[in-house]
Amino acid sequence: MDEIQAIGVVGGGQMGSGIAQLGAMHGLPVWLVDTDPEALVRATKSISSSIQRFVSKGQLSQKAGSDALRLLRCTSNLEDLSSVDIVIEAIVESEDVKKRLFSQLDKMTKPSAILASNTSSISITRLASSTSRPRQVIGMHFMNPPPIMRLVEIVRGADTSDETFSATKALAERFGKAVVCSQDYAGFIVNRILMPMINEAFFTLYTGVSTKEDIDAGMKLGTNHPMGPLELADFIGLDVCLSIMKVLHAGLGDSKYAPCPLLVQYVDAGRLGRKRGIGVYDYRKAPEVVKPKPSL
Ligand code: CAA
Ligand code: NAD
Repeated sequence: MDEIQAIGVVGGGQMGSGIAQLGAMHGLPVWLVDTDPEALVRATKSISSSIQRFVSKGQLSQKAGSDALRLLRCTSNLEDLSSVDIVIEAIVESEDVKKRLFSQLDKMTKPSAILASNTSSISITRLASSTSRPRQVIGMHFMNPPPIMRLVEIVRGADTSDETFSATKALAERFGKAVVCSQDYAGFIVNRILMPMINEAFFTLYTGVSTKEDIDAGMKLGTNHPMGPLELADFIGLDVCLSIMKVLHAGLGDSKYAPCPLLVQYVDAGRLGRKRGIGVYDYRKAPEVVKPKPSL
């Protein structure tokens, strides 16, 4: 497999936009595809503002930032991916929807292209089975936010070739990421461990053990996590957390992975977290103004 020279990213939400940004910041032409044109507008804005944060901290020159933005092209047409060397899929966490996309990508990308998924939990082997090239299908799981988090978890399906693995690992390393490898079992490494903790935080809230603020403060201050588990769930997206718990529950067959009813209810209510302005916390409230105490 030749070195990767151009990439495609499908899904321009919080993960896809961050992955596309990484590609462009590392000098690769990137096609970013989303079926929703408004998602592409939001993605372009968030990529520009993230690049600006790197520029303002002196971690990227103004010219490198502008060059990165020039390498990025947004489209709603999958056929624009016909010449890329790898497609990284970052659409909704649903096996059926991802399989449909992989089958389409199989038909419209060049035969040598790698088809990677940023799935949080879904079987790479089953995604690969919807293509005619299972040797070139792999899990390339970035963490949120992709421009900042240091890890990429690589997941080999039953038929993933050594060439596909090496090329994917080399790309993650080109992006400056550390790589860990997982076998293809539900939730892989990170979400197998992280999501039951988040689910347990929902049970802790649901059963009245404590308030959301104290649960988060307990874990932040007590275990040095940068965010409390409920705050992190809002950051990830409660829909994504619920989908992952369902995959763990179905895939590992143990009742300990059953999603907390409160998590289910929030998703039913459209409280999906920060991306919707409300999840466990309400982000629509105006920030409290802290008034200085009058001097004595
Ligand atoms: N682009 C560029 N820079 C960014 C950024 C972005 N999108 N987001 C944060 N930053 C930078 C900020 O500029 C800041 O830089 P300096 O310290 O140099 O000033 C730094 O990152 C910290 O940002 P903030 O001060 O805005 O906020 P913070 O201190 O709360 O950090 C955070 C934000 C990095 C997200 C941090 O809260 C954190 O690490 N949270 C946990 C994230 C996590 O666990 N992610 C994994 C989720 S699980 C997953 O992804 C897998 C899955 O399948 C669900
Ligand atoms: P998101 O809801 O922010 O974005 C998904 C995007 O995909 C939306 O813009 C939607 O319009 C688009 N989309 C849906 N179907 C499409 C299709 N058929 N073709 C093109 N675009 C389509 O979701 P996200 O949080 O970015 O998650 C995306 C993937 O990344 C999921 O598989 C998720 O499990 C995984 N992931 C998420 C996180 C996280 O913290 N949110 C972390 C790691 C991995």
